[in-house]
Amino acid sequence: MSTNVRPETMERITTPELAKAFIDEQVAEVRAQVGDKKVLLALSGGVDSSVVAALLIKAIGKQLVCVHVNHGLMRKGESENVIEVFGKELDANLVYIDATDRFLDLLAGVDEPEKKRKIIGNEFIEVFNEEAKKLEGIAFLAQGTIYPDILESDGVKAHHNVGGLPEDMKLELVEPVKLLYKDEVRVVGEALGLPHAMVYRQPFPGPGLGVRCLGAITRDRLHALREADAILREEFDNCGLAEKVWQYFIAIPDVKSVGVRNDKRYEGWPAIIRAVNTKDAMTATIEEIPYPILHKITDRITHEVEGINRVLLDLTPKPIGTIEWE
Ligand code: XMP
Repeated sequence: MSTNVRPETMERITTPELAKAFIDEQVAEVRAQVGDKKVLLALSGGVDSSVVAALLIKAIGKQLVCVHVNHGLMRKGESENVIEVFGKELDANLVYIDATDRFLDLLAGVDEPEKKRKIIGNEFIEVFNEEAKKLEGIAFLAQGTIYPDILESDGVKAHHNVGGLPEDMKLELVEPVKLLYKDEVRVVGEALGLPHAMVYRQPFPGPGLGVRCLGAITRDRLHALREADAILREEFDNCGLAEKVWQYFIAIPDVKSVGVRNDKRYEGWPAIIRAVNTKDAMTATIEEIPYPILHKITDRITHEVEGINRVLLDLTPKPIGTIEWE
């Protein structure tokens, strides 16, 4: 099996040509490793698992089984996008599971951030394992491990990757991008023909909107969060900030304030805008968003999203504020 150490002679993949050479080499290696057996992959729609999926589809086609678990905490349109790109355009062997009710029922009334994370992580493994057991003839597990994961931990992705497959499913790992840095994964993804927006997607935490719907998650507040976040992303796309800002999102606390709409008292939640720049997520600075854009976002969110009556801007760098609110 291949090594977990990047050779010093390995050239940084910066061009489509270098990406193509890497892809050809990996396609051959994966075919040799896998033979005619089946490979399972948890496809979250994030950059790493998407690039691995595209690479494996190229190498082994329908021998790859992608499982996309929608935990109900995805951003607007994300699961639909996975189905569109992988299920339809790339004609992948894709199993889509809408587990929204399972996750939200378990999370009902839970307000402690780390407990929420644990529930989401454990349930993800549970749902994925249930699906894995239903599939016949799986011999390999593909993972979107990248080189920083190996450098920073023991090689297993800490957050949302599958950490505990059933004991009786002894699966060998397939990790074709494990020696690549993030920028290289993106170049490879584009060379594989994945959409630019998917390959240059901003980081999104494994627990998803679950850690941005602050405190105990309710379906109505989660819905408002998803809609407000979609408006923020759309406006950032329109004005070019999406290409410039490292991470940007809305968080909604479990607090209501008084407002007025159509001459009537209108109680609602505040939507908090967070837009930060960073290199490694250890420290972060605040992006200065032009006021006209802030006004437009505020106007759209307060008029288009049911339940929100104020828009606030978080100006706190990290430290002292973490990037996420919980
Ligand atoms: P913080 O909030 O610690 O976030 O400043 C740093 C980066 O990590 C992401 N983050 C997570 N990612 N699971 C993840 O996969 C998590 O539980 C989690 N918590 C924070 C955060 O979005 C930011 O990019």
